[in-house]
Amino acid sequence: MEPINRLIENNKQWAAATRERNPRFFDDLEHEQKPEFLWIGCSDSRVPGDILTGTHPGQIFVQRNIANMVIHTDLNLLSVLEYAVNNLKVEHVIVCGHYNCGGVKAAMSNQNFGIINKWVRNIKDVIRLHRDELEAITDEQGRFDRLVELNVQEQVFNLAKTSIIQQAWKNRQGPHLHGWVYGLKTGIIKPLLDMTHEDHVDPIYEFEF
Ligand code: CO
Repeated sequence: MEPINRLIENNKQWAAATRERNPRFFDDLEHEQKPEFLWIGCSDSRVPGDILTGTHPGQIFVQRNIANMVIHTDLNLLSVLEYAVNNLKVEHVIVCGHYNCGGVKAAMSNQNFGIINKWVRNIKDVIRLHRDELEAITDEQGRFDRLVELNVQEQVFNLAKTSIIQQAWKNRQGPHLHGWVYGLKTGIIKPLLDMTHEDHVDPIYEFEF
């Protein structure tokens, strides 16, 4: 069977098996979703947030892009964030990076990747911000791993810099922000940092409401 047709066939089997396990599964999800989580992850095919967290359809709202970035001019990300926070009222927003991320690796090099340069430039800013710490790591893989972590941390900070998160923190003391890194080698998620309404970014980023 052609691989593309296999997907359709797999889907039929999945739908039948799911309905067999829970005859109400599709009826319950047909008219509304109430996910508790927003997942901001890398587009990398090896890091599917729902599968590796054992969650089911209806539980995670998802935004994925190259290197799990939170860029303040990205209308796509901002729309997803606003809808998740203000309409779905998710309790948790997770930024999940992963070791050996191709987008992060591209940022460490001086190679020209065309249009992707513009995306990856935001990771180069993370390198510049943390240059001293990164250059002190002599082992190249170690430096790469640390940059993946620092990039996740900066993207969590970027969430906290948005008026969407700041307004929600003021109005409903939520959501919680989480920065995680997934290990391709182990399948294990390593939590790096959490932020709540009691935390603050640099005061210059704080809006008056
Ligand atoms: Co990646």
